[in-house]
Amino acid sequence: MAASENPKKVLVLHGPNLNLLGLREPEHYGKDTLHGINERLTQQAKQAELELDTFQSNSEAELITKVQSLANSDIGFIILNPAAFTHTSVALRDALAAVKIPFIEVHLSNIYARESFRHHSYFSDIAVGIISGLGAESYALALTYATHQLRD
Ligand code: DQA
Repeated sequence: MAASENPKKVLVLHGPNLNLLGLREPEHYGKDTLHGINERLTQQAKQAELELDTFQSNSEAELITKVQSLANSDIGFIILNPAAFTHTSVALRDALAAVKIPFIEVHLSNIYARESFRHHSYFSDIAVGIISGLGAESYALALTYATHQLRD
């Protein structure tokens, strides 16, 4: 099926403190701003003739409500950086399991090369895959995969 005939969209979902990218611990998260990352992903999606939405929240409740709102929507794939909720949120995990939309878990930093409390993720075992440690490229590579999946 040609990409332009495909009605499915991709949602990029960013968790807490990712609004501070560019200023926040650049040694871990790089110098790109969230706006810059979203802009590049939007361009990449446009070239692939795919629609892309982005959403960031510092609130666990807002992220859960957003995920719940996707049931029966035109979102066919989620690229998720749960940020600190990666290591704490059974509730956000349950929301993703409930809507059953495939997602890739992404991290800018390599969570396995950092403090031990970051080594556990509540999302990895229900994700299609995980990309961790490639900076903003983590999102771009996830979008390449999502594009292929939505075209098939
Ligand atoms: C992060 C890694 C998390 O451990 C951390 O809490 C974040 C960002 C990353 O993208 O590397 O906020 O998800």
